[in-house]
Amino acid sequence: MLEQRIRELEAAFLARISSAQSSEELEAARLAAFGRKDGAFNQISKEMPRLEPEERKRVGMLLNSAKQSLERALEARKEREAEAALEARLDGEWIDLTLPASGARRGHLHPITQIQRELEDLFVSLGFTVLDGPEVETEYHNFDALNIPPDHPARDMQDTFWLEGGNLLRTHTSPVQIRGMERLGPPLRMIAPGRAFRNEAVDASHEHTFYQLEGMMVDRDVSVAHLLYFMKTLLTAVFGREVTVRLRPGYFPFVEPGFELDIRCLICGGDGCAVCKQSGWVELLPCGLVNPNVLRMSGIDPEEWNGFAFGLGLTRLVMMRYGIDDIRWLQSGDLRFLEQF
Ligand code: DAH
Repeated sequence: MLEQRIRELEAAFLARISSAQSSEELEAARLAAFGRKDGAFNQISKEMPRLEPEERKRVGMLLNSAKQSLERALEARKEREAEAALEARLDGEWIDLTLPASGARRGHLHPITQIQRELEDLFVSLGFTVLDGPEVETEYHNFDALNIPPDHPARDMQDTFWLEGGNLLRTHTSPVQIRGMERLGPPLRMIAPGRAFRNEAVDASHEHTFYQLEGMMVDRDVSVAHLLYFMKTLLTAVFGREVTVRLRPGYFPFVEPGFELDIRCLICGGDGCAVCKQSGWVELLPCGLVNPNVLRMSGIDPEEWNGFAFGLGLTRLVMMRYGIDDIRWLQSGDLRFLEQF
């Protein structure tokens, strides 16, 4: 009786194992056969104690061999499943090295470089020369020749990275004005874009490294009206629309009179945010008429020549144009940021 059932169970489970369609079905078959609680073979084991010793021995051997044959069948199926899974994975990873390559991804210019080149084009079209100056500057060009003598309080406005030997990292692009006047003399129309450095605590609106674009025009009878004309032309080109500006008196030793040209904050529309320090206005364009002392120190006669100068914050301009609310993104090298431009 029991022997008959064992043979039937063995045959039935062998069939079930070989026809299983998935590893889930295989596992279900294994549980139905060998499960601790309801497994078919467990039921049979439970009936064994009531058999005669002789019969129990025979049935026990049959039971063991049936279990072993099922276990081997299960093992063999599992191995095949694993091989099939591996094959499927390798199929998916197959690369055809003979296919033509898909085009390499091209990079693009940093937003600061983009705006710098736009402005260079604009000023060249207005008759200006683009000049380059050293980032490691002499104290003379960065300060003295700009009418900022030693001990002058204006030096404290710019926390300077001093280098060994008395040179420094330029704190602004204004020293290129001096180099321009020394090299080219009047009349002169020049701009000088580039990096400037200050020993500052970094936050959403301050970086130790930032970009400026210096501008200078020296000619006969240059007035504030000329200055305003160029500044308006510049801002209209950058923003492609009228922006709200205001002119405040500003103090810089190298200009007299000096101005601060502010624009209404384009990030918050004037309501106040981190970039405009809650004021609604952003200082964008300090400027003024060149101080006669500066002309004189560079060998230009202030009785005959005068001029205007401005120092545009390129970094801040980019932030305004694209609505970037933290200056630290610009030098972060973060592709999630850069790929938006
Ligand atoms: N060099 C000044 C700065 O970085 C900015 C500046 C102000 C430049 C007035 C100018 C100017 O040419 O006329 O703070």
